[in-house]
Amino acid sequence: MQNIKVGLLGFGTIGTGVVRAFQKNPGLLASRLGARLELVRIADLDTTTDRGVQVAPGLLTDDAHTLLNDPEIQIIIELIGGYEPARTFVLQAIRNGKHIVTANKALLAKHGEEIFRAAEEAGVNVMFEAAVGGGIPVISAIKENLGANDFSAVYGILNGTCNYVLTRMDEEGEDFADVLVEAQRHGYAEADPTFDVEGIDTAHKLALLISLCFGTKVDFDQIYTEGISRVTALDIEYARDFGYKLKLLAIGKRDGEQIEARVHPTMIPANYSLSSISGVFNSIRLVGDFSGPVMLSGYGAGMLATASAVMGDVLAVARDLRTNTSIRVPAMGCPQSQLKSCTIKPMDQLVTSYYLRFNVKDQPGVLAQIAGILGKYDISIESMIQPHRHEAEAVPIVFMTHVAEERSVAAAVAEINRLDVIQEEALLIRIEENLE
Ligand code: HSE
Repeated sequence: MQNIKVGLLGFGTIGTGVVRAFQKNPGLLASRLGARLELVRIADLDTTTDRGVQVAPGLLTDDAHTLLNDPEIQIIIELIGGYEPARTFVLQAIRNGKHIVTANKALLAKHGEEIFRAAEEAGVNVMFEAAVGGGIPVISAIKENLGANDFSAVYGILNGTCNYVLTRMDEEGEDFADVLVEAQRHGYAEADPTFDVEGIDTAHKLALLISLCFGTKVDFDQIYTEGISRVTALDIEYARDFGYKLKLLAIGKRDGEQIEARVHPTMIPANYSLSSISGVFNSIRLVGDFSGPVMLSGYGAGMLATASAVMGDVLAVARDLRTNTSIRVPAMGCPQSQLKSCTIKPMDQLVTSYYLRFNVKDQPGVLAQIAGILGKYDISIESMIQPHRHEAEAVPIVFMTHVAEERSVAAAVAEINRLDVIQEEALLIRIEENLE
C-alpha cells in the first residue's frame, strides 16, 4: 500500500484534534483512501506542553523548516493561524511542491490571491474547508455540489464564539465577559478573542464565501464589520419582546452590479430557521438559481469538528496524489484568472429597519426631542418602549423604526448623540426581515 506523508504546522487545539484523528481511525482512513496516511512530523514552538495525546519521540520539533524542506512530505497542514509566519511558511511549502491544507481564514482573506496564484503556478492544492464553519462542509458544497449555480446570496452565523455568547446571554441572562471566558475555555475562541467578538473572524470567513459564491476578488478591508461587544443582555431581552432574536450575521448579497458585504449584530424574526441556531453551532444559507436555498448547519468551532474538516481536505488531496491528479478543483472554485473585481455596496445606501437604544436622563421632554429628530430625518417609528429600568442616572428608551436609509439613520443618531440628555452613545442594531 502506498504511504502518503503529512506534516503538521501548529500543535494547538485544532492540531491536537488532527493528531487524534490520525491516531483514532488509521485503518478507516487507509481503507477509504486505498493508501496509508502517515503523520511524520509536527512543528510547534512549544514542544513541552502536554496536549493529552501521545506522540512518538522525535515527531515533534520546534523548527518548521524540517517539515517544509523534507522531500518525503507531500501534504502540509497549516494550523498556526494568523498572518505571519503562516504566510511565509505556506509560500515556502508551495514552492517546495507541497499541497496545503489550512484552517487559516485570516491568512486567506488577506493574502489569498498571492497564495492561490503561487499554488496554481506550482501545481499544488490549497484546501481550506476548516477555515469556514468548523465541521460544516460548506466550501466543498459551493465549489463542487453546487458548482453549477449562480448564487444570489450567502449569509448566516459564522462565528461559534459569538453565537455561544449571545445564546448564553439570551437563555441565562449572563454577562458578556463571563460567557466569553467560558467560550475560550472550550477552545472555540481565536488566540485573540477580539477577532471573534469584534466580527473580524466572521468577516474573514465572509470574504472567502463571497469570493467562492460570486467568483470575485474581495478586498477584506471593504467589508463593513461590527461585533457584539456593545450588545447587552437587555438588548437581547428587548429583541425578544419585539419578536426577534439577536445574532451576529455575515451577509453577502448580490444587488445589481454591486455586492452587499457586511457583518453586524442583526435582529431576525424569532421564527426564522437561523434564529434556532444556538450555542457554538454555525449555519450558512446559500441561495442558488437552480438549487434554491440550501442551509448547512453544524459545529462552527471546536477541536474535533474542525479537525474533521481538516482531515476531509487531507483525504481529498491524498486521493489526488494517489491518482496522479493535481488541482482537480481550483482553490476558489475557478482558475485565479477568472476571478473578477467587484464593487461593494456602500453601507450608507443600505435600506432596512432599525432597533435604536438611547440611554437618557429621565426627565420630561426627552422622548419628544428624540422623536422630533427622527421625524426630521424622515425616519418613521414603528414602536417604542421605555422600560422601567434605571441604570444609575440613565434610563433606556428603545425605538423600532420602519424601513429607512442608513444614511438618514446614521445622521439622526449622530444628532441625537449630541443632545445633553444622552448619557451614552446610542446603540443601533439592524433588523433583517427579507432574507431570501
Ligand atoms: N473562533 C472561531 C469561532 C473558530 O468561534 O467560530 C472557528 O473559526
